[in-house]
Amino acid sequence: MTDLHTVAVALAWARQTLARTPVAEPLDGPVLLAHVLGCDRALLLAHPEHSLTPEQQVAFRTLIARRAEGAPVAYLTGRRAFFDLELLVTPDVLIPRPETEHLVELALAWARERGGRLRLIDVGTGSGAIALALARHLPGAQVWAADLSFAALQVARLNAARHGLSERVHFLQADLLTACGGPTPPFDLIVANLPYIPALTLADLPVARHEPLLALDGGPDGLTLIRRLMAQAPRVLATNGLLLLEIEATQGEQVTALAAQAFPGTLIQAHQDYAGLLRVLSVERKG
Ligand SMILES: C[S@@+](CC[C@H](N)C(=O)[O-])C[C@H]1O[C@@H](n2cnc3c(N)ncnc32)[C@H](O)[C@@H]1O
Repeated sequence: MTDLHTVAVALAWARQTLARTPVAEPLDGPVLLAHVLGCDRALLLAHPEHSLTPEQQVAFRTLIARRAEGAPVAYLTGRRAFFDLELLVTPDVLIPRPETEHLVELALAWARERGGRLRLIDVGTGSGAIALALARHLPGAQVWAADLSFAALQVARLNAARHGLSERVHFLQADLLTACGGPTPPFDLIVANLPYIPALTLADLPVARHEPLLALDGGPDGLTLIRRLMAQAPRVLATNGLLLLEIEATQGEQVTALAAQAFPGTLIQAHQDYAGLLRVLSVERKG
């Protein structure tokens, strides 16, 4: 067994070990070693001669072995950057994706035009990524973060506390919007990144081996949750309110049709992300 006594030796060993792992990235070794040593990655570059204790060597070996089996780096470090937040993540939540930041940007632009004093709900909040990014940048907003998964909500609550947002973000364990409506005042903004991967496709995807099925499985055609949300949203979305939904790029037409059925006569738009893919659908309900 190679002795991983210095940073340089440990990184070279990790690079070699992960070379056979198709999902591994060149930075995985440095990220995981910085995590074990509790330092910044830049420090590793500056001090390749720094020595590792036997405990640090064991910890690094374990993480690299798990990475070689395909475990995502974010679950190994327990952290993921999203928008300008560092979020805690566990295997109970989807690892927030950079694509979802586009939805946050669209929501912020719309909300700021209205002065930012609004009621909003993030349906399927997972780690709290969308709800917390919006709460942080819209100090006048009242924010609800809903999920069916109690375990995911626990992670989202921890993230809210870490970022000092617990007082303004309300957590709700619920099946989509079923707990809303009735005497509850409507929401000005509904945002959602729901599971949208067709069940059969999912079986072949490496993510399904590590991330929660509840966060990925969109049913037979990928649209089960989105279809149900569209049917519920008209009861819950305020007049002049906005619904923003992350979609899979190929689902644009089908989701537009569902939105047109749920909200006849409203402005429905599909928005391209920076890669030119249609990843967000907006429904603006006019009074
Ligand atoms: C694709 S993940 C998105 C997580 C987070 N919003 C993000 O963008 O990183 C979908 C989330 O929807 C939740 N979910 C699945 N079915 C649900 C349902 N019927 N009602 C509420 N949430 C649900 C899952 O637990 C998961 O957290």
